[in-house]
Amino acid sequence: HQRLREIMTATPLTIVVLGAGKGTRMKSDLPKVMHKIAGRPMLGHVLDVAAATGANQIAVVIGPNMDAVGVGARAFSPQAQIFVQAEQLGTADAVKAALPVLKAFTGDVIVLYADTPLLQPATLERLRKVLAEGAAAAVLGFEAADPTGYGRLLTDANGTLTAIREEKDATTAERQIQICNSGVMAFRVNDMAAVLARISNDNAKGEYYLTDAIEVIATMGGRAAVVTCPESEVLGVNDRGQLAEAEAIFQTRRRGEAMAAGATLIAPETVWFSHDTRLGRDVVIQPNVFFGPGVVVEDGVEILANCHIEGTHIGSGARIGPFARLRPGAQLGTGVHIGNFVEVKNVKMGQGAKANHLAYLGDGSVGDRANIGAGTIFCNYDGFFKHQTSVGKEAFVGSNSALVAPVTIGDGAYVGSGSVITKDVSAGSLALERSSQVERPTWAEKFRLMMSKKKKAEAKT
Ligand code: UD1
Ligand code: MG
Repeated sequence: HQRLREIMTATPLTIVVLGAGKGTRMKSDLPKVMHKIAGRPMLGHVLDVAAATGANQIAVVIGPNMDAVGVGARAFSPQAQIFVQAEQLGTADAVKAALPVLKAFTGDVIVLYADTPLLQPATLERLRKVLAEGAAAAVLGFEAADPTGYGRLLTDANGTLTAIREEKDATTAERQIQICNSGVMAFRVNDMAAVLARISNDNAKGEYYLTDAIEVIATMGGRAAVVTCPESEVLGVNDRGQLAEAEAIFQTRRRGEAMAAGATLIAPETVWFSHDTRLGRDVVIQPNVFFGPGVVVEDGVEILANCHIEGTHIGSGARIGPFARLRPGAQLGTGVHIGNFVEVKNVKMGQGAKANHLAYLGDGSVGDRANIGAGTIFCNYDGFFKHQTSVGKEAFVGSNSALVAPVTIGDGAYVGSGSVITKDVSAGSLALERSSQVERPTWAEKFRLMMSKKKKAEAKT
């Protein structure tokens, strides 16, 4: 086992990701592989797996007019080299597009499909182990609940893989086989170009099938093996229904990880994570919470029901919601309280600061232990530019105040309820912006008397 490990770490690895397919069944203006699972394009998930497997080279094959996919690929993996497959002539032809990285390469080559986003790095390690044991090819197979449409894995009496038969080319007997090709294939051959060159397009689809590499390798004296995994890990996304299925599988996995790491999810099936959500220990999440990308939640935070949170850092012991909306750039310090119907965007809140009810805090900062009253609005936008609001530490902003940015409320200052604050307020003072209250003693009694007389007079006529 130790020796296998050594072989695996000493062997260079190239991963080729195929994403040139048009994905017509998605019915979308977006290339298929840019559709998202848990807030990250499928291509990003697959490139994460490639990086986690320690690939020395990563090649991504895209179609013509897919510049956005190339840009995306480089953003997800700076080491990725992009190749364009001019015409979609099949999966073997797609690998040929990446020949420049394969020509002078000796080591393991793994081919992944960019529309198979749930794959785990540990599974690729198992494929590499089979190569280290001497196989020239290893194919990831799975037992399909419904094998329709998949290539079938043909094995001999010893369990050696002899061929992969595409559904359209399979005999009735071959179609009874339940073990299917996931599309993930690993190779250790001297000359990948020579293997690809021997694959023809003489088949039902008239395509160059990468799966035919198994028979080619067999004729060259190489052995091929099968490694299996659960179907849920190799779900291929070809339409929006499968996209939703993949999302569901990802979420189930992620909820399990969150709970295993010490978070309490009262109703796990109603909490939606992003691919990158980070939770501390003893975080409690009530039902119906959605995390967009870029959220870090520190220890002991409580997130009450029905919150939408993205691009936010939540300090330890904070209490969020119910019904809070935290948007990109919200940085909440230790023990912050954000209550119902409060929206926070691009605001840093100091430790123990509170905004407990009905507020919009956009672009600015709130000092330690400051209190933002119900109905407070940071008026950050003049129709052209965004401006900053700064509320000092221990300041108290009374209910229903509009703070018209750019504006600064000094440390410990008070803003009287209902004020429209357009000028800076100095530390420790009270700012009030409202007409003074008028009082007419005994007015109410006189008013009632007058009105009731009037009503009686009208009733008589
Ligand atoms: C393929 C496999 C099949 C397997 C199934 C698993 C072959 C011949 N068949 O069939 O055995 O059971 O996947 O889902 O490989 N692509 C290109 N260029 C092309 C053609 C495809 O880049 O010219 C890419 C696609 O973007 C996709 C992947 O290769 O990511 C697979 O292509 P697809 O046409 O979906 O193959 P399947 O018919 O599903
Ligand atoms: Mg497919």
